[in-house]
Amino acid sequence: MSDAKETKANEPVSGLPYGVLAEYHDQDELIAAAKQVRDKGYERWDTFSPYPVHGIDGAMGIKRTILPWITLCAGLTGMTTALVMQWWTNGVDYPWVISGKPLFGVPANIPITFELTVLFSAITTFVSMLVLNGLPKPSSPLDKVRRFARVTDDRFFLVVEATDPKYDDSSTLKLLEDSGAKAVELVPQDTSSDKIPMGIIYGILILGAVSLIPFGFFSTARESKTTKAPYHIVPNMDYQAKYKAQRINGFFASSDGRAMRQPVEGTVALGDLREDSHLYRGLQNDAPARTFPEAFEIDDAAMARGQERFGVFCAPCHGETGNGDGMVHRRAFALAEGTWVKPTNIADPSIAAKPVGELFKTISDGIRNMPGYARQIPAEDRWAIILYVRALQRSQGEFVASADASQK
Ligand code: HEC
Repeated sequence: MSDAKETKANEPVSGLPYGVLAEYHDQDELIAAAKQVRDKGYERWDTFSPYPVHGIDGAMGIKRTILPWITLCAGLTGMTTALVMQWWTNGVDYPWVISGKPLFGVPANIPITFELTVLFSAITTFVSMLVLNGLPKPSSPLDKVRRFARVTDDRFFLVVEATDPKYDDSSTLKLLEDSGAKAVELVPQDTSSDKIPMGIIYGILILGAVSLIPFGFFSTARESKTTKAPYHIVPNMDYQAKYKAQRINGFFASSDGRAMRQPVEGTVALGDLREDSHLYRGLQNDAPARTFPEAFEIDDAAMARGQERFGVFCAPCHGETGNGDGMVHRRAFALAEGTWVKPTNIADPSIAAKPVGELFKTISDGIRNMPGYARQIPAEDRWAIILYVRALQRSQGEFVASADASQK
């Protein structure tokens, strides 16, 4: 294409042309031309460039967009919707007191309010932007002009539409020619059919029909009965080659057929050999031990540990001093729980007279209405608690000298 001015005043195919198109080779030319067209008072015209041109808005006399105001209204609508919705559901329609809090308070309702504000503004902004710009626009008569193809590359264009009140074939052409355009041409109306090609319509219909198939499949699956397992698309770790507890295992059919195998006779799992009967069962020669086990070291640390564990595991029922009025007891008593038995006063002489082995058994296995704590409290800690119980008994002057004599 030569840089010489070329003017092709093609006659429109029928009636009015679409408009006049002027081509420029750089953005300064475009801006200068835009200013002239603006000053002549044209309204229906536009400029096109391969990249956003700074200052083109001013040169074209484009007013500030009203989009921010639309966004603001949408945001306020979203905010009001969220607040009213939450106030009505929580405060009016289904009042439900939670932790004595008010039925409606702004701070608790901010997250949803924020979400709806953002949601309403974002969607409205997006849709309004399209509407204000007249989008989507699948085709334009400009698409048929060969030279216009370079608008995405290195050419700048200005078009004045024939529907502009000021438009006039000759004077508009003249204005653009004088504006420094490298080429000016009349753009004919696009007379090709604006019907959607049947192929596309059929394509959409077929796709639409096909996309319904999965839903038909789901609904029959929901309504029909089958003995087959459901399809499991992502099995994760739901199926594993393993035997579950208490199941049959055919491999051992000749012996007992159980999936759970007994350990080989005489074996003990590592660390499970509780050989020290004194330490782990509180027994000496099969009788309740009267002394603390050798393996249990009696010192300040053990006493402190015992006091701490007693506070955790025993005081709730037996009370801090062990006299049986712990919080659980007082609560059960206040509620007049019929089956509640008052925890024993463990500073009582009858309890103080019991050998430590018997206390160990009480903590481990429970006694009458008191549950056992062997699972929660390791053996060493049970002894530490007993040490502290002894201190409690002694501190309350109920310690029986005879029991004391044989014990550490
Ligand atoms: C859930 C409440 C509860 C907790 C926790 C509890 N006890 Fe008891 N305990 C009782 C009750 C109730 C009795 C009386 C049981 C009865 O007479 O039926 C009792 C009885 C006893 C006795 C008297 C046993 C006897 O020979 O008569 C001792 C000792 C004792 N508890 C020690 C403890 C120690 C030590 C702990 C902490 C490891 C503990 N208890 C934790 C409720 C509790």
